[in-house]
Amino acid sequence: MSDRVKVRIAEVKTAPHLHMRWMIRRDMPEVSAIEDACFQWDAWTEEQFLSCLRQRNCIGMVAELGDPVVGFVIYELHKHSLEILKLAVWPDRWRQGVGAFIADKIVHKLSSHRRTFVTLTVRETDLAAQLFFRAQGFRASGVLRGHFDGEDGVRMRYELEVGGCAGCGAKFYSREAAHEHECPCDL
Ligand SMILES: CC(C)(COP(=O)(O)OP(=O)(O)OC[C@H]1O[C@@H](n2cnc3c(N)ncnc32)[C@H](O)[C@@H]1OP(=O)(O)O)[C@@H](O)C(=O)NCCC(=O)NCCS
Repeated sequence: MSDRVKVRIAEVKTAPHLHMRWMIRRDMPEVSAIEDACFQWDAWTEEQFLSCLRQRNCIGMVAELGDPVVGFVIYELHKHSLEILKLAVWPDRWRQGVGAFIADKIVHKLSSHRRTFVTLTVRETDLAAQLFFRAQGFRASGVLRGHFDGEDGVRMRYELEVGGCAGCGAKFYSREAAHEHECPCDL
């Protein structure tokens, strides 16, 4: 994640009233409106959202800026990973750090002893989404031939970095934590 994006997330985190919470059924009209605005040719219907969210391992969260929902994420829990199925931001709010804020929340659900990576698939032609996830620290990890009705999908993956301080033995579960670590052994 670039310093610029980190600064952006910090700004958004301190923006009044931006927060995330579990998606509830009452959010469906707003979530569907964002979905329709963002995914023209393969937008999910409300029924598709609801049937996905009925799965035990499927979770939906919304980002609210004040009252209105400005973005959402749907992801699946797997034994060692999380799979993002959808992440979208209301177009009027693009390039204001909301997407990075949501992605950051997901990445912070990782832990060294349980789920250590996040995966997702984006359309090969969706360069904007690929650049967005790349800016959040995701890297391309493979290609799924014909995944989107004949169009290839690019698999992307964010890997939790687990490292340790040789001096004091402290463990780090993110690059930020390693970077911020101030150990007397470095003196
Ligand atoms: C992709 C998406 C979620 C990004 O949300 P966002 O709130 O606009 O993203 P952010 O403002 O947090 O962007 C963070 C960084 O990602 C990168 N980025 C975001 N959108 C980008 C774009 N269209 N082109 C290139 N880079 C982009 C930039 O590095 C950006 O930092 P900058 O604005 O300082 O340059 C949003 O554009 C969207 O909802 N698109 C439609 C749905 C979609 O494609 N979802 C992803 C597949 S599930």
